[in-house]
Amino acid sequence: MTSTSTMLSLASAPPTASLSVHENLKGRLKLGGGSLSFNKEKANPFINTKSFSRISMVAAVKISRFEGVTMAPPDPILGVSEAFKADNDEKKLNLGVGAYRTEELQPYVLNVVKKAENLMVERGENKEYLPIEGLAAFNKATAELLFGASNPVIKEQRVATVQGLSGTGSLRLAAAMIERYFPGAKVLISSPTWGNHKNIFNDARVPWSEYRYYDPKTVGLDFDGMIADIKAAPEGSFVLLHGCAHNPTGIDPTPEQWEKIADVIQEKNHIPFFDVAYQGFASGSLDADAGSVRLFAARGMELLVAQSYSKNLGLYAERIGAINVVCTSADAAARVKSQLKRLARPMYSNPPIHGAKIVANVVGDPTLFNEWKAEMEMMAGRIKNVRQKLYDSLTAKDKSGKDWSFILKQIGMFSFTGLNKAQSDNMTNKWHVYMTKDGRISLAGLSLAKCEYLADAIIDSFHNVS
Ligand SMILES: Cc1ncc(COP(=O)(O)O)c(C=O)c1O
Repeated sequence: MTSTSTMLSLASAPPTASLSVHENLKGRLKLGGGSLSFNKEKANPFINTKSFSRISMVAAVKISRFEGVTMAPPDPILGVSEAFKADNDEKKLNLGVGAYRTEELQPYVLNVVKKAENLMVERGENKEYLPIEGLAAFNKATAELLFGASNPVIKEQRVATVQGLSGTGSLRLAAAMIERYFPGAKVLISSPTWGNHKNIFNDARVPWSEYRYYDPKTVGLDFDGMIADIKAAPEGSFVLLHGCAHNPTGIDPTPEQWEKIADVIQEKNHIPFFDVAYQGFASGSLDADAGSVRLFAARGMELLVAQSYSKNLGLYAERIGAINVVCTSADAAARVKSQLKRLARPMYSNPPIHGAKIVANVVGDPTLFNEWKAEMEMMAGRIKNVRQKLYDSLTAKDKSGKDWSFILKQIGMFSFTGLNKAQSDNMTNKWHVYMTKDGRISLAGLSLAKCEYLADAIIDSFHNVS
């Protein structure tokens, strides 16, 4: 069943229901699945079909038009923050959401962002609508940051860049394009992956399947499995790749492995689709973190890249990012861009200006740009320090001889601890450590001072809960 049919039936069901109830009360029409035509909705997770059977009993009472709307489960990542807020224990730690915190565990606004915002106020900049594709200076800056200003794809105007609503919105726009122009094409996503990827493709009605990525035995990359699954996928599939700092595992392919991944994608005529949410935040270097994308572009491949400035500029709530489509010709890029705009217009009309101006001001001003790089290195450095201290604490405290060195091999904001759901539950219920149930912890939410406490929690959960 498609979401369209869901939407249509959701909109039309209640009035039909009340009419049938009314008629039923008059004894003219029996209330039943047939007359209400709810049959098709049985498998719909959004609609509680059972609740309609109550309609006949509560017919005299006011019935909500939304009676059939079920309570949605909390989001697996953002729901963790809600649970954290409700906990009054002073030892509590929020390692759920991937947001950078200072050593005092406070949110951080980058100095360059404050400076860019001051500049905007001084210049008295207006709040007029942006064009559908976004701010031209932002689009130029973001594509150059990703590919490098002298990259042939930029010089030859082969990149269609459209400002998006951060990483999520940019992925969603690309998904809409896949659904419209590549009907039936599959997107291959890593197992595991960032929790929202599946939602995005489900909502865009793009079929997806998983390729092996994580090997629990080594807590490392299942490279052979990954290659085999990409090879086995139908020719012309889209392969979603995390450009750097794979979320949730923190495990990235090596440059040699990236080459082999590119080989098999080319062999199978697949289309690489990069999700770059951590450029500069993984290694501290913008160029190094764009290495995977540039390697594919240098082979002359057509590819998609979604970008986000949530983490590397700390612009989480500004919703600033972009979708870039590299094409083989400038002409194709122009056509792709026109269609991306056409898709964006009825969805959200045009993107927000504030974050776009911040990025354009920071990247466009050599002094601010250098200051940004220094701040990014500082943030990436703090995360590396807590990663090291967590490893040291685990190794010093755990007398079982378990090898915790996988933690040091991971990169970026996250560490995939290897803890299962029951063990992750123990982390939260007993130790007040809030994290996603797949065993992922955000090291950006950890301080040096809390590493020992966290090590105690992990050791207890790992050894005492099965
Ligand atoms: C892999 C990945 N992609 C995309 C995003 C998108 O984030 P946002 O929409 O805040 O830019 C995230 C955020 O956590 C992520 O981890």
